Amino acid sequence: MVIMTSSMTFQPILERIAEEIERTPGRGRPADYIPALAARDPHAFGMAVAELDGTVYGVGDWREPFSAQSVTKVFTLALDLAREGDELWEHVGREPSGNPFNSLVQLEYENGIPRNPFINAGALVVTDRLQTRTGDAAGELLRFLRAESGNPDLDFDQEVAASETAHGDRNAALGHFMASYGNIGNPVPVLLDQYFRQCSIAASCADLALATAFLARHGIRADGTRLLSRSQAKQVNAIMLTCGTYDAAGDFAYRVGLPGKSGVGGGIVAVVPGRCALCVWSPGLDERGNSVAGVAALDRFTTLTGLSVF
Ligand code: DON
Repeated sequence: MVIMTSSMTFQPILERIAEEIERTPGRGRPADYIPALAARDPHAFGMAVAELDGTVYGVGDWREPFSAQSVTKVFTLALDLAREGDELWEHVGREPSGNPFNSLVQLEYENGIPRNPFINAGALVVTDRLQTRTGDAAGELLRFLRAESGNPDLDFDQEVAASETAHGDRNAALGHFMASYGNIGNPVPVLLDQYFRQCSIAASCADLALATAFLARHGIRADGTRLLSRSQAKQVNAIMLTCGTYDAAGDFAYRVGLPGKSGVGGGIVAVVPGRCALCVWSPGLDERGNSVAGVAALDRFTTLTGLSVF
């Protein structure tokens, strides 16, 4: 193990991880339930680390845009929490679901209140509430990501959004079901349009590591202004740790030991509070929807550096 000191750079560690990942067989399969994602090469791999001051290190395909998908749920949660505070928790829980990200089963027993903000049902509630407060949840998210990453070219991927709209029956079912309990405020088609555009945002590991760094800075944005209180940043990190990788969250905490959030585009962001934020991307997924090489790379990162929350 190389214990990181503050004067060490992350670059040699990232290069070592990329070499090890290159030699590791078995990459999983890209998501195919959103046809526009199925074509990505499972051997693509990129990883970036953003320090608190915005210095970024990267390796492999770290500047290649990919579909952020559920990684965006971290940012919509933060944007909504910043606006409405604890009232949000009357509409969505904070417990791991132990079920797949798109599962419907708990919703009926639990009266239309999703277990947490990172399963699809919970993310729909968060986007709905952000939509009510801003009138344009996806646009608000895009503005935030552009500002934090310093990349004005970040944008929605219309093809991915259209592909998901065309195959969106399950998310539509979740939206309508929760609306029947009074837990959705906007017309469901409006909500789904916002949610699919949110998920379609194309961004690179560098962009998403920089955008996640506010959580490593305990709630402070890149421009020095505060988005979340220190306590709220801790809360978001805690929910990432316990719920960010769905029914694999226990295994992810065991292997990686960091708050993390995955997406079916193959991206995972992770936070070392007070130190740095990371993003890794490789499109091949395991059966629970998490990037196989991405989890392996984060596992190696925390093992090699000794940086973890434990
Ligand atoms: O709603 C969906 O199914 C996708 N837009 C996002 C799912 C996702 O990324 C789950 N993550 N592992």
